[in-house]
Amino acid sequence: MAHINENFRKLQAGYLFPEIGRRVKAFSEANPNAPIIRLGIGDVTLPLAPAVVAAMHEAVDEMGTAAGFHGYGPENGYDFLLEPIVEHDFRARSVEISTDEVFVSDGSKQDSGNIQEIFGQDCRIAVTDPTYPVYVDTNVMAGRTGEADEQGRFEGIVYLPSTAENDFMPGPPDQTVEIAYLCSPNNPTGAVASRENLEAWVAWARKNDAVIIFDAAYDAFIQDPALPHSIYEIEGARECAIEMRSFSKRAGFTGVRCAYTVVPKELTGSTLSGERVALHDLWSRRHATKFNSVSFVVQRAAAAAYSPEGRKQTAEQVAYYMANAAQLREGLGAAGFKLFGGEHAPYIWMQTPAGLSSWDCFDRLLNDANVVATPGSGFGASGEGYIRISAFNSRENVEEAVVRIRDTFAG
Ligand code: MLT
Repeated sequence: MAHINENFRKLQAGYLFPEIGRRVKAFSEANPNAPIIRLGIGDVTLPLAPAVVAAMHEAVDEMGTAAGFHGYGPENGYDFLLEPIVEHDFRARSVEISTDEVFVSDGSKQDSGNIQEIFGQDCRIAVTDPTYPVYVDTNVMAGRTGEADEQGRFEGIVYLPSTAENDFMPGPPDQTVEIAYLCSPNNPTGAVASRENLEAWVAWARKNDAVIIFDAAYDAFIQDPALPHSIYEIEGARECAIEMRSFSKRAGFTGVRCAYTVVPKELTGSTLSGERVALHDLWSRRHATKFNSVSFVVQRAAAAAYSPEGRKQTAEQVAYYMANAAQLREGLGAAGFKLFGGEHAPYIWMQTPAGLSSWDCFDRLLNDANVVATPGSGFGASGEGYIRISAFNSRENVEEAVVRIRDTFAG
């Protein structure tokens, strides 16, 4: 008999976004003419940048020639992509990362879910709460937790509440923790870490021999150049942090799939007997065993996002979404809703009106405004009483959504 991995049974039945998808589908089947506006899952809506499309076409044509055909690529990515990554994402901000510390992959969702495999079963993890559900669920699947309590908090995980009082950027834990997941700009709260925030985390990790998994999938949305884009802008982070970046939101790649993870060579973990082992070697071993590189065509597309035209065009896309975020902030703020985020991130974190629970607010918005948002409690117990509104949609839909949300709760 094939025994199942019973850890899966500790999880809530469905992953958050498919669950929302099911509710929206049921609603639209019952109300086929409802003009639904989707500001739920953070999925980009603008077409790919022309420079990216041209690079994909060229790469396809190249693959159709004997001389230009490519089979399996190098596991960590082609140099034509690794070089612009280290140049534009790091050296431009005075950070030195070598190309062999970068692992190109098909998504930060996968990377942030898979990274836990290189750590011991007994590692205790900390997450900010609310958090991107992948960090928690993958550790539950791996058996690093007990059961969830009635609020959905798993035994064995340290939850660090992100609240209005701490500007949704909690500091490091007091308890012993070996691995901490941080996301800045933050999904779901839209908050952004300051240099001081990250300095405190890096100092904590170094003092406690802990590892920070830093998810910077939304770095392109940072508007203030003084704010850190990379945790490696903080001295000492190379010895305590792994960083993830994605092309999904910054270049519209949610359906194309390309991302990367940086594991510096200095970063080590310990065996039970105290021997230090480079995490780079473990991740490299895992990557080579379980992954066969991102397709040549997609890597050419990602590299094109760094060309002068690609940078300009993708920056315009980011600016478009951030103008949507500004519309949401202004329109809903003027209507009296209490809002956070949306200044350096494509997400608005809104307090639910009239003391509604997150899911009740979700239902009210779906039924009365025909607007899909994401219930804050789906990201963790401390998200209860909030709803996340995504800025990824057309300006027209965002403007219409503002009116509908306002009218739904007017009076
Ligand atoms: C979200 O809406 O939180 C994101 O789109 C999910 C993801 O990036 O996987």
